[in-house]
Amino acid sequence: MSAVAETTGRPAALVAGASSGIGAAVAGRLAARGHAVALVGRREAELKEVAESIRTGGGTALPLALDLAEPGAPAEAVAATAAALGPVGVLVCSAGAIRLAAIHETEERHWERQVRVNLTVPFLLAREVLPGMRERRHGWIVNIGSGVGSEVVPGSGGYGVSKHAVERLTELVHEENRDLGIRAVTVAPGWVATRLAARPADLGVPEDEVLDAEDIADTVAWLLDRPARMSVGPLVRVEPTASRAAAGDAMTRHLTRARAEGAGPIAKESR
Ligand SMILES: NC(=O)c1ccc[n+]([C@@H]2O[C@H](COP(=O)([O-])OP(=O)(O)OC[C@H]3O[C@@H](n4cnc5c(N)ncnc54)[C@H](OP(=O)(O)O)[C@@H]3O)[C@@H](O)[C@H]2O)c1
Repeated sequence: MSAVAETTGRPAALVAGASSGIGAAVAGRLAARGHAVALVGRREAELKEVAESIRTGGGTALPLALDLAEPGAPAEAVAATAAALGPVGVLVCSAGAIRLAAIHETEERHWERQVRVNLTVPFLLAREVLPGMRERRHGWIVNIGSGVGSEVVPGSGGYGVSKHAVERLTELVHEENRDLGIRAVTVAPGWVATRLAARPADLGVPEDEVLDAEDIADTVAWLLDRPARMSVGPLVRVEPTASRAAAGDAMTRHLTRARAEGAGPIAKESR
């Protein structure tokens, strides 16, 4: 463990979906805050890069290349983190799969993939870490939702449904554990410039009107800095200021554009 993690006494953190985008930014921020961080994702090279940049900054990072959708993988991630860094005191679920389509055009395998990655994986990870958090009477679970989890956006399909459901999962975790000092919150971003989202230029939106992954990392760090008596949420929405970059509106225009270009019902490849 790094000198930073030892002296701050911060608990170990596990970030699911840490190989890029929001998860990578959150992992970097948690490491800077003094948490030793396990980085989980499928792309090993990207995880190693994120880990290297954390180590360069004096932090501790453990890359764990795993497909969290595979049976047993969430439990394996939590066990490997505990063995190397200590029990997980902060869990951030940023792993996400997206395949936009109207319900009547959604393929069963795409539906199941999105529900698995966006909802079942956060459930399985929470189920693994909660017993220890309850014993220690401390813990944070942050699920990265989406603005379209609370807005009914036609075409958001299995993505919108799974992001809506993860809000309820988080509420249940919060209510069931709040008297044991555990806080759970969904951070639901609007449009953030990452590989998962549409490119701003494609929809005529200036780059600087769209959120940056660091904005979401700021939000997570701010939440974690609240005193133990204070809980924020259970849903925190973070949206671009400009309405043309707002989640629902941007997704609708993205879908319309994809259809006009003949992409069929599918507006986005599943990651
Ligand atoms: N960008 C936006 O506009 C936006 C808006 C609202 C919400 N969100 C949410 O933010 C979260 C992060 O997305 P992002 O925008 O930062 O895009 P991203 O860079 O593509 O991040 C997605 C992460 O999920 C990981 N992942 C996907 N499937 C996985 C699996 N089966 N096992 C393990 N890891 C998996 C990816 O890693 P590997 O590919 O290495 O597995 C990657 O690290 C997602 O939950 C997304 O729904 C994004």
